[in-house]
Amino acid sequence: MKDFLWGSATASYQCEGGWNEGNRAISMWDRYLHDNHLENGDVASDHYHRFEEDIRMMKEGGQNSYRFSIAWPRIIKNAEGEVNQEGVDFYNRVIDTCLKYDIEPFVTIFHWDLPDYLEQNGGWLNRQTTEAYAHYAKVCFEKFGDRVRLWTTFNEPRYYTFSGYLIGNYPPGHQDLQETVTSSYYMMLASAMAVKEFRNGGYQGQIGIVHSFSPIYGVDSTVETAIAARYAENFYNNWILDTAALGEIPGDLLAELYGRCDLSMMKPEDLELIKSYTVDFLGLNYYARVMIAPYTTGETTLIVNNKGKQAKGTSQTIIKGWFEQVRPESSQYTEWDTEIFPEGLCEGIRRVWNKYRLPVYITENGIGLYEDVTVEQVDDRQRIEFMDSHIHAVMQAKEEGCDVRGYYAWSPFDLYSWKNGTEKRYGLVAIDYEDGLKRKPKKSYYWYRDMIAQDQKN
Ligand code: BG6
Repeated sequence: MKDFLWGSATASYQCEGGWNEGNRAISMWDRYLHDNHLENGDVASDHYHRFEEDIRMMKEGGQNSYRFSIAWPRIIKNAEGEVNQEGVDFYNRVIDTCLKYDIEPFVTIFHWDLPDYLEQNGGWLNRQTTEAYAHYAKVCFEKFGDRVRLWTTFNEPRYYTFSGYLIGNYPPGHQDLQETVTSSYYMMLASAMAVKEFRNGGYQGQIGIVHSFSPIYGVDSTVETAIAARYAENFYNNWILDTAALGEIPGDLLAELYGRCDLSMMKPEDLELIKSYTVDFLGLNYYARVMIAPYTTGETTLIVNNKGKQAKGTSQTIIKGWFEQVRPESSQYTEWDTEIFPEGLCEGIRRVWNKYRLPVYITENGIGLYEDVTVEQVDDRQRIEFMDSHIHAVMQAKEEGCDVRGYYAWSPFDLYSWKNGTEKRYGLVAIDYEDGLKRKPKKSYYWYRDMIAQDQKN
């Protein structure tokens, strides 16, 4: 298809390594993983040194776009906002390499690696972080805006704030509703501030946001389930998508939170800004739908399986008074409890397109697997099947008239998975961490290449 972007996606912390090189500041993830003696991304896929080889492999794999994030701690040295030229030089090289191979760079400004000097000062609970972010975003536009046409302000603010402040499995590891609401609000405000910088600076291209998209399915068609589904839509999707695309935080969500939380940080001038600076497009990361039923009993419970097969079946979500998640028994699941449900991607795109009428990019889609990468070629037919069914779902939505403009596999090569480590593999290219980080294309890499070639004939 002409103009369709076929690519793959990474995040700086998950692939770069080089954590103490190039004058990079420390990120909150460095501190958290080091302090807790957990598997970390100090080396990761060593993309910091091997990006040229990795991008060349994308090209040889038929891809025409690369979604990657810029590491804030590489670009801004300290709380005073000083720019680190070595970091700028690194991303200049990455972008120029993309362009050399006719690969469209699709840049995420923030994919979770907050500089530790900001986290130590309250991170996303502190309004000053919004100002620091707007400054950082502006530096990115100034330095790279002559070559980058597609930007996104944030990767998955919902997943970030829920994991860090509600579930507590990501740094800073808290479980606090007020903090979840405050950090979410400041991130969405910061996103609008970056859009403002982008518009006022008159840069080329477009700016969007990437959302961790879980279309909600009710177990039945009763009124009770419809009400529970509305709670779940607000919880999982609307507060990001409505706020970014329509400039409005859902009123019924605010009403629910009003009695339980302090919302005094929401200033009228902020809400004006959010209203005025909405995004140009939506990036959807799709891994699975969420099926829900009305709340019955129990305390709020949020359990994520970050342990794989040894914890299979332990994931659980109950939001007291609102809804509870149901696990459809007839479905297939990964070892990390992610349901495999390609139909949800087509239905999800339809819903988003019908509601917001903004261009959509599928900014992540993939399957995490245990794989033996010591073999000559990893025969990852499960990944091929997964991608094939999901790409069909995207194409169906497109044929129905939804404005879908790109698909990005997560991920071009194996990388570090937050809290799951390197044993959870998503790559089209295997990385043998035990053997000099050697790159070896998996079967899916060639499958994707041929699929793209076929598509481009049409
Ligand atoms: C998305 C993130 O939530 O899912 C990625 O944007 C992440 O950073 C991906 O790696 C897969 O999740 P996980 O937990 O399996 O690595």
